[in-house]
Amino acid sequence: MNILVTGGAGYIGSHTCVALLEAGHKVIVADNLSNSRIETINMVKEITGKDLIFYHIDVTDKAKVEGIFKDYSIDGVIHFAGYKAVVESVQKPLQYYYNNVVSTIVLSETCLKYGVNKFIFSSSATVYGDNKVPFVESMELKSTTNPYGETKVISERILQDVVTVNPDFSVSLLRYFNPIGAHESGLIGEVPKGIPNNLMPYITQVAKGKLEKLFIYGDDYPTMDGTGVRDYIHVMDLAEGHVAALEKLSPGVHIYNLGTGKGTSVLQLKDAFERVNGVKIPYEIVGRRPGDIAECYADVTKAEKELGWKAKRSIEEMVRDA
Ligand code: WQD
Repeated sequence: MNILVTGGAGYIGSHTCVALLEAGHKVIVADNLSNSRIETINMVKEITGKDLIFYHIDVTDKAKVEGIFKDYSIDGVIHFAGYKAVVESVQKPLQYYYNNVVSTIVLSETCLKYGVNKFIFSSSATVYGDNKVPFVESMELKSTTNPYGETKVISERILQDVVTVNPDFSVSLLRYFNPIGAHESGLIGEVPKGIPNNLMPYITQVAKGKLEKLFIYGDDYPTMDGTGVRDYIHVMDLAEGHVAALEKLSPGVHIYNLGTGKGTSVLQLKDAFERVNGVKIPYEIVGRRPGDIAECYADVTKAEKELGWKAKRSIEEMVRDA
């Protein structure tokens, strides 16, 4: 199929482009490069030995998005493009609401106008808010603690309402847990611009000597060692989950957790990184980060049953590839 991948130069988007190309799909990427680099597109071509089309555009720009649908017969859209820094979303709510929500509206409208019925949306475990773990797709969503999370809740709701009046529209809402690691080639990976917000890229930059030490946000949570517990999933497992969701798409709205179902604490992840890579990660325990929850991990039975997909890479592979 011809798949439009918005945000395809980004961390998860580029890994999904690799998986799509290797599964035999044609890929058209639209990305404004606000948090990614054009070199990544070239690396995807090098890894797969396949070509892909690249548009340097902002997907909130309706005319530019429509131009792609005029140039190519699109069979489906995977919408990754969006701002995703939780802390930054608290400081810049309007930018987050505009960019993340308007892009979903523009893409949905254009899909309907051009009769494109397959839509996969990059959602997040953040939408569950401070629910009881393990998170299940059928759970009532609780209000998230930040505008970023709210843009995901609102976008999910928009897509559900579009399906209500367009029964042929086929939507998969994929709720990611904590993607880490990189393609085994090492040619693509997670290199955020500026100081990383997330744990894994922060650890890799400490390992490289770019940052002095890791600050662990709190060791007084009600968890096995007091530090935060998360469901880390290898980004290539996540990418393959998107291909499975695309190929299994049917009319209606389908919600899936993409995680491993296992929780790992901050200290456990740091220890695994040190053990597997033979490096020392100096660290200091500091106060909790506002908005953090103690534990977050997925119930993964639905994706396995309905998509025939299950994460298979271990924490050791994740920290090695990172
Ligand atoms: C993981 C754990 C921190 C950094 C966020 C978003 C979520 C999704 C994934 C987009 C927590 C601790 C972190 C550090 C630390 N993004 N930590 N020191 O917060 O679980 O999820 O990224 O969809 O929406 O909320 O990921 O990697 O920031 O934190 O101790 O320097 O590591 O407290 O327990 P998080 P994270």
